[in-house]
Amino acid sequence: MAKLAVWLPVLTTGALGVAIGLRKLDSPLSDDREKKLRKLLDRYREQLLPNAERLAELEKEFQAQLRAGLAKSVAVDGKHMMMLPTFVTRLPDGTETGECFALDLGGTNFRVMYVRLGAGKGEVAECDVEEVTLPQEVYTGPGDKLFDFLASTLKNFIDRHTATRAAETAAATGAHEAALPDPVVGFCFSFAVEQSGIASGKLLEWTKNFTCPGVVGNDPVALLSAALQRAGRPCRVAALLNDTVGVLAAQRYLDSDTEVGVILGTGTNACYVEKLSALSKWRAPAGSGASGRTAVNSEWGAFFSPALPRCLEDLAVDAASFNPGKYLFEKLLAGMHLGEIARRMLLTIAREVPGLFVASPKDAEAAAHAAASTEPGPVPPPKPLPSKLLTPGSLPTASLAAIAEDGSWQLLATRGRLSRELGCHWPSKRAADVAKEVCTLVARRSAVLAAMALLAMLRHTGWAAEQPPRPVTIAFDGGVYEKFGAYRKMIQDATCVLEQLPKFPPCPVPTLLLAHLLLATTTPLLPQDALAEQLGDQAAELAPLIRHTLSHDGSALGAAVLAAAAVAEADAPHPSALDAAAALAGAAKAMAAAAAAPAAAAAAKAMAAAQAAMAHVPAAVQGHGHGPAPAPSAPATGPSGLPSYPSVPK
Ligand code: BGC
Repeated sequence: MAKLAVWLPVLTTGALGVAIGLRKLDSPLSDDREKKLRKLLDRYREQLLPNAERLAELEKEFQAQLRAGLAKSVAVDGKHMMMLPTFVTRLPDGTETGECFALDLGGTNFRVMYVRLGAGKGEVAECDVEEVTLPQEVYTGPGDKLFDFLASTLKNFIDRHTATRAAETAAATGAHEAALPDPVVGFCFSFAVEQSGIASGKLLEWTKNFTCPGVVGNDPVALLSAALQRAGRPCRVAALLNDTVGVLAAQRYLDSDTEVGVILGTGTNACYVEKLSALSKWRAPAGSGASGRTAVNSEWGAFFSPALPRCLEDLAVDAASFNPGKYLFEKLLAGMHLGEIARRMLLTIAREVPGLFVASPKDAEAAAHAAASTEPGPVPPPKPLPSKLLTPGSLPTASLAAIAEDGSWQLLATRGRLSRELGCHWPSKRAADVAKEVCTLVARRSAVLAAMALLAMLRHTGWAAEQPPRPVTIAFDGGVYEKFGAYRKMIQDATCVLEQLPKFPPCPVPTLLLAHLLLATTTPLLPQDALAEQLGDQAAELAPLIRHTLSHDGSALGAAVLAAAAVAEADAPHPSALDAAAALAGAAKAMAAAAAAPAAAAAAKAMAAAQAAMAHVPAAVQGHGHGPAPAPSAPATGPSGLPSYPSVPK
């Protein structure tokens, strides 16, 4: 009791002090500065959030680029979606089994994974992942060094996993050293690659700040295989794939309704399942197109349209990037850029509304010092700004996410961040409000554009018009989607579209579909009735059919599953080759009989039998001349030892 009597006045005085301090900090901006601030924020909102007409126009242009890319090879200028064939014509169905390693190079972090696929449908019996950060000198240094780094990490990981099994096998066989076959590796290489086979291709261009010379134009599998040789651990690299294809494959292994794989992380991209007939620039390798469908890597990061909602800060981010003028869609959506766009917007606001983001006494002193050492000009120097706010890269996307979803009392968490990360001196509640609004706006634009693009893809495939309607799953992976809950809601939650609905022209179909795409969620956030009322019968019918699923570590898992499938297919006797061999043998026998037949009638009969037998020889092995079909030759092998397929026809 006595203790309480001592502490109570102290605590009360402390609390009062904090309250008075906060109140003082929160003294409102002058009317004209508040007005200016509102105007600035409204302008950003208008510039960043496209209205209905703009969304419809973007969707149309997105679809036009998509179709053009399916029909013919497009210029690799970073301004067009490349619609790259993936050579994946048989997507996993959950029956794949076996053990596999995966190397997943997605960004400056990469993962190595070991997977054992069980006998049960879609069963991942064992899985182990390790994540490694690439030092900057590695992802900007010589290509060989990058692949040496990847190879040595993979080697150590594989050695750890195989050591036990080698010992077990040795014990079982009594041999001193058990010779295990080369480990099978799926290589998820998350950049634009023109594939020439399921395990070969060439890098078209670097993104995500990678600049290693000596890789563009070369085959990542050949480079990795050579590095693994140098490291003393040769492997069988059985599949080369984009991370979006990995996500699609991994989710498809679990859920056969999966039609789209999306990455929203350091970079962004999506792939989807397309009809072979629509990908007219590409011919599936003989014997591989039975499903009639294939995965296409859109490289949507390279989409560009003048209708993209951009502000001056976006132009500045692009100009400062290592690839100005390229991958402009990615620069509005991906984690690599979101924080920096918001920092630049906050800097503009700080300049236009003096006193909102205050420099620390140390920064103010440094600024005064700098001003004193220069000739005084006709206009007084501007108010000093927090030095970290002026520093590029000081607001990472993880901080943008934390600010956008800050629910702390008086936004104290954001105020702490503004002080620590951007160097603002005692930031006010108003300053934190503004930061939250800016961060939310930047994130929301990304979510709305991603939704627009997904809608465009789904509509292009004709899914929305299918009768009867069928469910579709969109599999997502990447840090922005995975770690930024509010962002996931922005894609899923109706509010980001409903807010705009009044501005939409009366019931345009794209709007309805965009709305239902954004509304779609496994656990709808709005009551279904409200949804139906807002969007009409069509949306109410379709919205519940779209599932958004997080495919955690999907790209690496997908790489392993596809590698397992590729090895199984390559090692199994190829049914079409067997058919061809049997048919050829039959035809040759019939021809020999025709030649040996003594009488003309018997010869004619035997010849007819020979021709009939030839009809069963698959066209692929018949040759183009008129002579007898050549014996089927062994397929050429690529660097992985798997058959290498014909290259993409131009
Ligand atoms: C690359 C894509 C990749 C995406 C997500 C982009 O920068 O060009 O190939 O899928 O990042 O990692």
